[in-house]
Amino acid sequence: MNLENTKNQEVEEFSSETKRQYQYIENLRKWHDQKKEELGRPLTACVQCFGCQMNARDAEKITGILEKIGYQMVETEEADFVIYNTCTVRENANLKVYGRLGYLSKLKKKNPDMMIALCGCMMQEQTVVDKIKKSYRYVDIIFGTHNIFKLAELMQARLDSDGMIIDIWKDTTEIVEDLPSERKYRFKAGVNIMFGCNNFCSYCIVPYVRGRERSRNPEDIIKEIKELVADGVVEIMLLGQNVNSYGKNLESPMTFAELLQEIVKIDGLERVRFMTSHPKDLSDDLIEVMKNSKKICNHLHLPVQSGSSRILKIMNRHYTKEQYLDLVDRIKTAIPGISLTTDIIVGFPGETEEDFEETLDVVRKVRYDSAYTFIYSKRTGTPAANMEEQIDDAVVKERFNRLLKEVQTIASGLTKKHEGTVQSVLVEQVNEQDASLMTGRLSNSLLVHFKGEEELIGKIVDVRLNECKGFYYIGELV
Ligand code: SAH
Ligand code: SF4
Ligand code: F3S
Repeated sequence: MNLENTKNQEVEEFSSETKRQYQYIENLRKWHDQKKEELGRPLTACVQCFGCQMNARDAEKITGILEKIGYQMVETEEADFVIYNTCTVRENANLKVYGRLGYLSKLKKKNPDMMIALCGCMMQEQTVVDKIKKSYRYVDIIFGTHNIFKLAELMQARLDSDGMIIDIWKDTTEIVEDLPSERKYRFKAGVNIMFGCNNFCSYCIVPYVRGRERSRNPEDIIKEIKELVADGVVEIMLLGQNVNSYGKNLESPMTFAELLQEIVKIDGLERVRFMTSHPKDLSDDLIEVMKNSKKICNHLHLPVQSGSSRILKIMNRHYTKEQYLDLVDRIKTAIPGISLTTDIIVGFPGETEEDFEETLDVVRKVRYDSAYTFIYSKRTGTPAANMEEQIDDAVVKERFNRLLKEVQTIASGLTKKHEGTVQSVLVEQVNEQDASLMTGRLSNSLLVHFKGEEELIGKIVDVRLNECKGFYYIGELV
């Protein structure tokens, strides 16, 4: 919701929890006004996120609350309030946060009134919270993934006490709607359609830190999208860990395909994307809806994780290599030219050279437009962490490099195919290197740079893709 459009009369219609939170925001606003007087400037806040699109969307909600209180948002961590929205999907995401916390301690020595909050997926792990309590005493507030909506209440609690405030919920069934939120872009936005995950892939920590799957009511989703469109948004990305299982736990169940059909009817909305699709739940109905709607982007992210049916079984993915390839065939037949991308894990426990060859085989058969490749990372608490036969680092590295080479060779060939064509492009920003150029995104998610005016930002225009430069194009307006 756009903050500025939040009228009091709308607050009247909100749930009692939402109203309670607005009250905390209001109190903090008064506190902030006083601080502003004393300092002769507004307080500054910096929100950094370390994770996926859902993590980024949560950061927008945090920003929304802070701006409503009066904070001025800044990029630098030399701010009055620094919030790290953490990720724990792989170990290196985790390590990054500890590294940065050391730096924050120095900043806090310079500015003792500075507040530091940690939230997000990492904080849902007890061992992490224990470590912070013990070794990072200067952190002010710790909260998790289920209670972001309480940020103002937790800040108030911190101001009223002189110790660290910790509030972590193990899980929740609650979805608190209508809180403020601030968007990074004015013309495109992420919209949560569900939270949590029930799949328990054996390597993955997400179900433990994000809780059980909960779908938002379709009416709330449609209302949010209509408000976004009224506010200038033309492209939305529907977000969920497994969007294909949307709606199963609603009072009146609804499928993702049915939801999409309602969403594409919204006037003024031009483009719809979604992520992530689990192959096991991708229905023929969804393929049909994608095929028939011009608004749905010509791109599907379909994580395969491994090409070996044996490994897929141990990963608890619920499909075989053959079923995945058959699904890809059906998608490509229904929607010729669709861009497919994927996620692949290398070095899952017990992965043999033969298993890895199966993954390479899938990559060659599907021909992905791009693939996110990950080295398996052991996550404590997941079934895979206890599996024997963890793979030797050198072997994993060697496989990873072979995979990357294969993926890149195929992807650059595919990108080149569009050279010379005219495509519709959403203009996103002024080019970072050359201010005479604009940068826009094709329906298939690739970027193109072309001569144009800043006024075009947020508009969909036709661009001829003159030259392919590997993974992007140089083009011209037509
Ligand atoms: N819900 C999405 C993925 C969310 S996590 C899905 O099911 O597709 C994003 C990606 O991180 C996953 O697709 C997987 O490839 C990778 N990942 C998750 N856990 C991992 C681990 N322990 N080690 C390495 N990569 C992992
Ligand atoms: Fe993790 Fe699997 Fe859920 Fe994706 S579907 S978030 S990989 S458990
Ligand atoms: Fe990371 Fe949490 Fe997303 S663990 S990948 S931020 S759901």
